[in-house]
Amino acid sequence: MEVVNGDYRCQPQLTACVAGQLTLPLCYIRAMQELAGKHIVLGLSGGVACYKSAQLCRLLTKAGATVQVVMTEAAEQFMTPVTMQALSGRTVYTSQWDAREANNMPHINLSREADAVVIAPCSADFVAKLAQGRADELLSLMCVARPIDRVPLLLAPAMNREMWAHPATQRNFAQAAADGAHVLGVGVGEQACGETGDGRMLEPEELLADIAAFFTPKVLAGHKLLITAGPTFEAIDPVRGITNLSSGKMGFAIAAAAKTAGAQVTLVAGPVHLSTPRGVRRINVQSAQQMLGAVQSQIDQASIFIATAAVADWRPANAADQKIKKDGSGDVPALSFVENPDILATVAQSERAQSGALYCVGFAAESHDLLAYATAKRVRKGVPLLVGNIGPATFGQDDNALLLVDASGHRELPRASKTALGHQLVAELARRVPATTTRL
Ligand code: CTP
Repeated sequence: MEVVNGDYRCQPQLTACVAGQLTLPLCYIRAMQELAGKHIVLGLSGGVACYKSAQLCRLLTKAGATVQVVMTEAAEQFMTPVTMQALSGRTVYTSQWDAREANNMPHINLSREADAVVIAPCSADFVAKLAQGRADELLSLMCVARPIDRVPLLLAPAMNREMWAHPATQRNFAQAAADGAHVLGVGVGEQACGETGDGRMLEPEELLADIAAFFTPKVLAGHKLLITAGPTFEAIDPVRGITNLSSGKMGFAIAAAAKTAGAQVTLVAGPVHLSTPRGVRRINVQSAQQMLGAVQSQIDQASIFIATAAVADWRPANAADQKIKKDGSGDVPALSFVENPDILATVAQSERAQSGALYCVGFAAESHDLLAYATAKRVRKGVPLLVGNIGPATFGQDDNALLLVDASGHRELPRASKTALGHQLVAELARRVPATTTRL
């Protein structure tokens, strides 16, 4: 069993889909739901990472936000206002003495219009100014002048690893957070200076996802969600096995949506080629027995359990230790099977699930008669909610259609991207999960 830290990467090449006239990656589709119509003031302080801000500006506008760029003098050393003007479609503000504003108060006007101020990159020097409440140029002046209760301030740190680790920098970000700023994470890796470590600015796609996540209502705050996803692999010998066509995409999308909605999420994943949603804890397993072991090791802390995994119903009774060889006789090996444990049914029968401390959700991948099979399966598995889908129509795809079945009836979630469905399902969960569940 392998525990992997969250590592979110938007994968445009894997997830291209169509939204209106634009072909956009799925992460933009989600961002559009949160950011369309929002007005973002994008502040650039001085740092090499300004080159990423150009792409961030583009992504924000593609997601339907309007973007007003404000740059410090130092930022202009790294990126021209002309570029940012072209990408945002608005003239850039660089000075508090800008006479374009009739009242000559750009710091007031800009901050009053904003749904959020995003400082990306936020340099060590700039956060030091924020921590002290200094206001000697337009960007810091605007941050101090913003209506603190209404206009959130998001900071995307970007600096050399020593500068990031310096106690003064950490102190300044902590102070800015205590004063109401929302500090986004930093990336790890090779830095412009040639050193390697923490402190580089997140990639534009990650920032877009984090900004969208910031606006997402935290309907699962306080919940710990455990979810299984993907197929299992049941070994025949060290090089062969039995598996199925599940891609894991639906489960990963639900995990990402639940994380964005404020849950603490642990994802038990069978063998799939998917990046871990950022902030989600992942446990990799191969077989159904390993999946059961991983679930049992985590379930006592969970308040919600969702079983999306396509668990193999049977495994070879005796997996060979060595590769089974052809002996030239034409005889084929005789395989016999034993039934795998039913992970969902095991969890649903536990005392915590029965008492209402743990809310269980099952999935059903059927090929036909979805409503009838899903209804029967919900009762057989003993879960309050069962989510049906047509397996052959969705395996490996980026979209799906879901049928929610509970004790009071059923409801369809029409065909949409798995990302969108993940968020819809999370909203449904938030409405259904009873107050008796064990919160953090
Ligand atoms: N499930 C599980 N452990 C198993 C089999 C299934 O946890 N050994 C879970 C799945 O993750 C899903 C639900 O049970 O949430 C239904 O899975 P499905 O394969 O559709 O149902 P089965 O019980 O295997 O029934 P059948 O294959 O006969 O339809």
